[in-house]
Amino acid sequence: MRKRVAVVGAGPSGLAVLRAFQTAKANGDEIPEVVCFEKQENWGGLWNYTWRTGLDQYGESVHGSMYRYLWSNGPKEGLEFADYSFEEHFGKQIASYPPRSVLFDYIEGRIKKTEVRDWIKFSTAVKNVEQSDGGFAVTTCDLTTSKTNVGYFDHVIVCSGHFSTPNMPSFDGFERFPGRILHAHDFRDATEFQGKDVLLIGTSYSAEDIGSQCWKYGAKSITVSHRTAAMGYDWPTNWEEVPLLTKVDGQTAYFKDGSSKTIDAIVLCTGYLHYFPFMEDKLRLVTANRLATADLYKGVAFIHNPKIHYIGMQDQWFTFNMFDAQAWWSRDVIMGRIDLPTQEVMISDVNDRVAREDAGQDDYDAIWYQGDYVKELIDETDYPSFDVEGACKVFKEWKGHKKKNIMTFRDNSYKSVITGSMAPIHHTPWKDAMDDTIESYLMN
Ligand SMILES: Cc1cc2nc3c(=O)[nH]c(=O)nc-3n(C[C@H](O)[C@H](O)[C@H](O)COP(=O)(O)OP(=O)(O)OC[C@H]3O[C@@H](n4cnc5c(N)ncnc54)[C@H](O)[C@@H]3O)c2cc1C
Ligand SMILES: NC(=O)c1ccc[n+]([C@@H]2O[C@H](COP(=O)([O-])OP(=O)(O)OC[C@H]3O[C@@H](n4cnc5c(N)ncnc54)[C@H](OP(=O)(O)O)[C@@H]3O)[C@@H](O)[C@H]2O)c1
Repeated sequence: MRKRVAVVGAGPSGLAVLRAFQTAKANGDEIPEVVCFEKQENWGGLWNYTWRTGLDQYGESVHGSMYRYLWSNGPKEGLEFADYSFEEHFGKQIASYPPRSVLFDYIEGRIKKTEVRDWIKFSTAVKNVEQSDGGFAVTTCDLTTSKTNVGYFDHVIVCSGHFSTPNMPSFDGFERFPGRILHAHDFRDATEFQGKDVLLIGTSYSAEDIGSQCWKYGAKSITVSHRTAAMGYDWPTNWEEVPLLTKVDGQTAYFKDGSSKTIDAIVLCTGYLHYFPFMEDKLRLVTANRLATADLYKGVAFIHNPKIHYIGMQDQWFTFNMFDAQAWWSRDVIMGRIDLPTQEVMISDVNDRVAREDAGQDDYDAIWYQGDYVKELIDETDYPSFDVEGACKVFKEWKGHKKKNIMTFRDNSYKSVITGSMAPIHHTPWKDAMDDTIESYLMN
């Protein structure tokens, strides 16, 4: 009997899995039957932009956390697919920080020419995955007809992402605040905050980028409140960093150092939860957002039932090429090319990864740690080897450019570690480039 594999989600991680199996098939290997369930109408995951917030047209929670005008926050040279370069896709080298539409085009370009779209059931939400007869019963709902179906699979690969379910702390006085309070997940368009005094809570990428968007599109002031430490960049003059919010009273926000500020809107940039309500309790991954996830052997196979794989569940320096490395590894385990060790060994693998991550001192250690992880997986499969160290160096340069000037770092360019060619500098500085269309970006 041909094995059956269910893939949950057709974002970059799910598409990496489909690409891995499709590549094996193209090489003449007999592959399992692969069925991918995607609750949205199209593939691309977070890169498939939606204007919706809250619930979608079917009453499902909206997956998207993307906003208009989002440009990549890291250089594309750090995420390039080893088997499909930007030059191959666009027919030329392009600048280093593409907007969402350009990255979406690149992601789908690699698989559009193959048959894998036929493997995906769109507008189909996975509602339940539970153990059954040595495999899994997967209950899905066709959202267009509301019809439920149960299918049986030997393996389930969960690729549903982990930047969609908001972590939503509350602060004293929120219930009476007269302006808008939203989470980064629901932020869609910075022009909404033109002329406004905006308070952001959190100091990671969402705070940095949503604040920068608001600044670029004309907010009156940006105030960023931190729990642990300020970001410490050399911000524009109408931008300040303050300690944690203690309360709001009317429109006045009070901070831990006793300072206060009048504000119009609050954006909670407080991160996301790993949330898998469709997984049976004993199959559900419970982890913090970190590089060494809990309970995943090699960061992929669920140690309590290694026929369940999770892709892309780590915090992310590397993204698309790391998902590829994981997908190829997952495929090879399922196809019997890689043997899994005993549960004891898998547990010690997880513990060892956690200890090594904890021993790191700073972001640079974290980048190399994840780079080493990507290399480790690639070495075990036939995913095309690439210069991972070169990609780590690109990330290092990128961090230097951010330190130098947080509002111009996207005006730099880097060398591709796949093709060796240098990216052009974009035709317009990021702060002046209001048009995020693919046509405008490719005009170099
Ligand atoms: C605002 C924002 C900006 C980002 N910017 C960058 C960036 O510039 N560069 C970068 O490299 N990374 C960026 N990321 C990181 C991002 O996580 C990855 O780029 C990538 O999208 C992760 O892919 P994924 O497939 O794991 O998850 P997702 O992209 O989240 O895709 C998951 C898919 O699973 C589907 N799904 C979920 N639940 C179900 C279900 N029950 N049934 C069926 N389908 C389901 C969803 O609809 C979705 O299509 C950003 C993240 C956010 C939130
Ligand atoms: N342009 C882009 O490409 C772009 C834009 C936005 C986001 N992203 C991506 O989106 C992903 C998620 O980033 P993220 O910034 O949303 O999440 P994140 O990296 O998990 O950061 C969460 C932040 O919230 C803070 N926080 C959590 N709970 C808090 C609380 N109770 N009170 C105060 N602060 C709290 C944390 O502070 P502590 O430090 O104190 O824990 C941290 O600063 C990343 O992969 C990022 O690259 C990309």
